[in-house]
Amino acid sequence: MSTSVEKIKERLGIVDVVSSYVELKKAGATWKARCPFHNERTPSFIVSPDRGTFYCFGCHAKGDIFSFVEQIEGLDFKGALKLLAERAGVTLEREDPKARGEHERLFSILEHAKQYFAENLAKTPAAMEYLERRGVKKDTLREWALGYALPEWRGLYDHLRSLQFADAEIENAGLAKRREDAGSGERYYDAFRERVMFPIFDASGRVVGFSGRTLSKDPTTPKYINSPETPLFNKSELLYGLHKAKAAIRKQNYAILVEGQMDLIMCHQAGYANAVAASGTALTASHLERLKKLSPRILMCYDSDDAGQNAAQKNAMLALKLGLEVKIAVLPQGSDPADLLLSDPEGWKKAVANSRHIVDFQLDRLLKSGADSRMKAVALRTSVLPFIAELQSKIEQSHYVAEAAKRMGIREDAIWEDLRALSRKDGEKRPAASIAPRPQVKAGSMPSLGERIMGLLYWKPEMEDFRKRVIEIGGEERFLAMKERMAEDSERLIFETEEYYENLSRNSEAPDAIRKDADELLASYERKSLQEDIEKKQSDLRAAEAGSADAEAILKDIHALATRLEDAKRAAGQGNP
Ligand code: UTP
Ligand code: MN
Repeated sequence: MSTSVEKIKERLGIVDVVSSYVELKKAGATWKARCPFHNERTPSFIVSPDRGTFYCFGCHAKGDIFSFVEQIEGLDFKGALKLLAERAGVTLEREDPKARGEHERLFSILEHAKQYFAENLAKTPAAMEYLERRGVKKDTLREWALGYALPEWRGLYDHLRSLQFADAEIENAGLAKRREDAGSGERYYDAFRERVMFPIFDASGRVVGFSGRTLSKDPTTPKYINSPETPLFNKSELLYGLHKAKAAIRKQNYAILVEGQMDLIMCHQAGYANAVAASGTALTASHLERLKKLSPRILMCYDSDDAGQNAAQKNAMLALKLGLEVKIAVLPQGSDPADLLLSDPEGWKKAVANSRHIVDFQLDRLLKSGADSRMKAVALRTSVLPFIAELQSKIEQSHYVAEAAKRMGIREDAIWEDLRALSRKDGEKRPAASIAPRPQVKAGSMPSLGERIMGLLYWKPEMEDFRKRVIEIGGEERFLAMKERMAEDSERLIFETEEYYENLSRNSEAPDAIRKDADELLASYERKSLQEDIEKKQSDLRAAEAGSADAEAILKDIHALATRLEDAKRAAGQGNP
């Protein structure tokens, strides 16, 4: 798809794309705004039209038009590509026109099905009464396009056939099932019968599947059934309600996570527009990654029964591992969000307001459990410390270690000890440091020498002499290692360097400043390289046998390096007189 990507980039400037979401102000060669990805008062979000990239000094969000749209719309790359292709008037070449046509047919079938179910609902008093009893208002029915599947074997199937859709298409859309042993007229039958129908939407609001809640009295029929996986319906990624929730999640900077469709629409009806639900499946890492793009904070509101609480625990752990911040709302015994919102809206409000950080929540549960103190100490290790161990900030960890110590009456250092033992064991279990936070180079702190050198090189790749000198001075290996260390931060370094020299150029001549800086950086780099070489040799020396020929040679090297370092320092006016 690379050609389409390039075409889109050619046609759409990053300033145009970004400014349709945030207000940009020109600042020198770049544009500035308040960052749309975190709350801030002074603008630290910078867009470079020349490079077609953006960077935020506050939250380190960065990327090009595609990643910008992914993040701001909560889309995956494909979704962003589609959206921007449309805007640029580019047809996605590599997309198989046949597959595209098939997808469009499936979308169309689902849309017709949605329509059909909605009409059935309007003319089925029993279904309308059921929803009314649950507290669903008329506007909400329309907004979420709720419907009803009649208790017939082929109501929808016949309807779709009359619209010229083929058997295979209806089956592929997950709306009909096939029975091989039946006569040709009866081979297909409706997948959903006698159910209140909830269309499931993708992030851009198109129907991709359904979930149906039974109204049947038959106790053997499952309460909910969901569309099977289809080319459009991918349960492990879809979040019910996301198309309506994404703006609110970004704005309020947290997502409410509930378990069921009913919970979800009742939340939205009550004005909690930042709610989403994993529909008809367990919460997955993809769901959470999706949410993380909109906000790093989630509030889980699950049923207060054991199943709900266990799910909350399990999902909270998964979320922590992905670097999300997790809170849990404690609902009154025996209620779920939908029931509570209907019977006691104040109770719901309170539950949200009093939601607990996952570690506090676990501590509460433990302390309420009534176990004796020895049991509690054991339980602390198994049900609280694993959550503390996943917290990504040391400060937060210390806070909760102190909290646990205070509430449990245990010494802090004993808890730290257990925590370290746990992390060691954990480390053995998952050697791939897949979820370890990458060491962040702190924003706002003094840039290191390496950052300044690489910043200049990334920003002004035409400074070939400078690059050559860097390699000459420190050697190729050191250069490559430094480059690799900084690679992930290249975008930040470019913006920082540019910003730095832009500020300078308001007072004096930037090009002069750059040349002077480059010389100084090279001199510092030389001293640092020599210092490192000396340290390396010193450690070789310790390893070598005293008095051996090797040791003699190393000593000589050290001496030579030290002399060079002295010279370099003297040249910089730093040496001892
Ligand atoms: P619950 O059993 O908690 O249902 O399942 P609920 O939302 O309280 O149902 P109501 O309020 O009686 O209508 C929560 C979610 O789990 C999935 C559905 O997505 C449901 O909303 N589920 C549940 C199924 O997929 N199949 C089932 O048989 C039951
Ligand atoms: Mn319920």
